[in-house]
Amino acid sequence: MTKIKYDFGSGRSDPATFPVAALQAAATKVIEEQAEALTQYPGDLGHAGMRTAMAQRELDREGISIDPNHLLLTNGSMQGVTLTAEALQENHGDTVLVEEYCYPGTLSAYRSLKYDMVGIPLDEGGMCPDAVERELDRLNKENRLPKFIYTISTYQNPTGFVMPRARRLQIIEMAKHYGVPIVEDNCYADVHYDGPLEPAFYALDDDPNQIYLCSLSKILAPGLRLGYIYARPPMLEKIMGRRHDAGSNYLAAAIAAEFYQGGIQKHAKATNPVLKEKRDLTLQGLEAELGDICVWSEPVGGLFIWVRLPDDVDTKALRPMALEQGVNFLPGQSFHYQRKHVPYLRLAFGHLTLEQISVGLPILARCIKSCRGSNEARGFDSLFGETFK
Ligand SMILES: Cc1ncc(COP(=O)(O)O)c(C=O)c1O
Repeated sequence: MTKIKYDFGSGRSDPATFPVAALQAAATKVIEEQAEALTQYPGDLGHAGMRTAMAQRELDREGISIDPNHLLLTNGSMQGVTLTAEALQENHGDTVLVEEYCYPGTLSAYRSLKYDMVGIPLDEGGMCPDAVERELDRLNKENRLPKFIYTISTYQNPTGFVMPRARRLQIIEMAKHYGVPIVEDNCYADVHYDGPLEPAFYALDDDPNQIYLCSLSKILAPGLRLGYIYARPPMLEKIMGRRHDAGSNYLAAAIAAEFYQGGIQKHAKATNPVLKEKRDLTLQGLEAELGDICVWSEPVGGLFIWVRLPDDVDTKALRPMALEQGVNFLPGQSFHYQRKHVPYLRLAFGHLTLEQISVGLPILARCIKSCRGSNEARGFDSLFGETFK
């Protein structure tokens, strides 16, 4: 098998900015100072210092003070995805609203829990509220209201789009009307490049049914496996009732809490410009190589660009051909809630070097062109609109 040299597949941050020395110093300090606590089980909520640091992170971004005792540390946000889905489920076949294109980890967790996923179409502002309303109304009439609405509302994976505040308020109102909890997965919010910041759902409404998931994977590293759930009682107890793993990694949490003593923004301010440069280079490369046949999202944060391919691309042939030439990406099908073969692909740019981006994109573009049935210009001018010929 050909070695992957240009990996646009995996959503990770820049490895060169991983703060090795600072984490080493933090590790030495906390192992000495917290040795006794490390010899015990961490308890359900997890390391208190880390919960305080993450409550501060939320306060800095959202301007809302949250109680660290309402934060539950998890093994990455993926554990949050699974725990909340388990806690809210009553029976196999329960419905859940998801974005039509969604993070594959979530889709596979919901599939394995045997949720019946109802996909909501997306546009440049995220989940379309008309479709949310239509589906809630339909499911209500069928007596199958969803157990929750799952949304990656900020720098959505895979599209990169942000849901504007007004749309969030609309969705909150509908969810409250039908008594359906919202689960917001916000693991990209601090990977911010430009433009205004949109508020988290919990910052817009204090409905105790809301659940919020976050992580350190995208701003520090996924290898730490640190994430958290913010939920208020009694929802918090309901989620904790599903937890049977004796708590999350106390040492990793202690090191991260020490590292983030001065808040998370200091490190994010150093890493986000590095990622932004990669985003810009990827966008320029797309324009130069594929401007006449594709369209793509221009994300103001996060790690992904969503690319629409011409309808005549053989999407099944494209990935094997690109892999053969050392280029990886994730095909649209991986993100579709029903695994449909759709003419899209996702480019993750965070962990490649600038050189890998510059060399890899033209190779990918050549593969796309040779998987087409024609040389015609694209027949669409937006990511989600109809084709006009
Ligand atoms: C939307 C979303 N949620 C959760 C995760 C899982 O992240 P973690 O490493 O925090 O478990 C990812 C990872 O790509 C993601 O994109």
